[in-house]
Amino acid sequence: MNDKQNIDWDNLGFNAHNTRSMFIANWNLSDSKWNVKGLVPYGDISLSPASTVLNYGQGIFEGTKAYLSSKERVVFFRLEENAKRFNSSSRRLCIPEIPNDIFIKAVKDTVLDNLDYMPKKDRGSIYIRPLAFGVGPILGVKPSEHYTFLVFVTPVGSYFKSGLNHLKTLVTDKYHRAATKSIGSAKAIGNYSGTLLPFKEITLEGYDEIIFLNASNENIIDEARSANIFILKDKTLKTPSLNGSILPGITRDSVLKISEKIFHLDVREEDITIEDLMNADEVFFTGTAVVVAPVGSICYNDKTVELGRSYTESITKNIRETLIDIQNENIKDPFGWVLPLD
Ligand SMILES: Cc1ncc(COP(=O)(O)O)c(C=O)c1O
Repeated sequence: MNDKQNIDWDNLGFNAHNTRSMFIANWNLSDSKWNVKGLVPYGDISLSPASTVLNYGQGIFEGTKAYLSSKERVVFFRLEENAKRFNSSSRRLCIPEIPNDIFIKAVKDTVLDNLDYMPKKDRGSIYIRPLAFGVGPILGVKPSEHYTFLVFVTPVGSYFKSGLNHLKTLVTDKYHRAATKSIGSAKAIGNYSGTLLPFKEITLEGYDEIIFLNASNENIIDEARSANIFILKDKTLKTPSLNGSILPGITRDSVLKISEKIFHLDVREEDITIEDLMNADEVFFTGTAVVVAPVGSICYNDKTVELGRSYTESITKNIRETLIDIQNENIKDPFGWVLPLD
């Protein structure tokens, strides 16, 4: 089942590879608690055709990474925050919350058992994907009475095929990612299926990423498919405030803190208009998968703006490298964000 010998370790993209094991816990209404099964061989799972995840999208997930640090040890980055966000997503989807200690132990156990899938230093990291979903058969639109919590891992490299080349982006007014009072601020599986067609369309037109507008106010921007967005103008760094439709990114929060405390930028969480976006000095995306990814051009309504500043001279580069240096323990972690595996 595992395909370690088929992995191109020098050119890891963002793909799912079969690994050794995955972690499972189950929840049933009858005893109303998570029963830990622990590690099982990585592989397919069976589901009722009437399960709520298949029929009504009752499922959530998380995404975080384990890094091989310069101290020759494996570390996680702000893992407690993923545990907290997992539970806030659970609450929104009526999935039973999972105690933080079970979540963290599940992540650690899965990484430890699959440590030989860790890429060499500077070639990538282990991506960790915790999931929770309704498995019980229910025909009406109701919460399931049975759930599975599952953690799997896979080695990953860079998310965008173009690597650190400036991304070509399109602001769409044809689709929204999430409605303001719906499930956009949860990491709910349904938020992602809605972005497949918009992304397919923009890639056919040669763009790398899409920027969605806010569903209640189309003058302001929200975020990308799976990354938050920042704009820099002079010494002011802005990202859209958490208005209900935006995922509260852990990288977003880290970039806000690094930019304020280390780079002394004027940091703001507020509405960003399309005009602000088109007039920015620098624009970048943030996320566990994309890290900090510089935007090179933005197209809106057939008008394209090229962001002139080169990456090597940008503040985006300084922020990106500081974040990576903290995650990889190349510099002292001033925020207490890094958690060793053991
Ligand atoms: C919709 C969306 N926005 C933003 C992010 C970035 O969040 P984080 O920095 O916690 O990875 C993600 C990825 O998890 C996402 O799916």
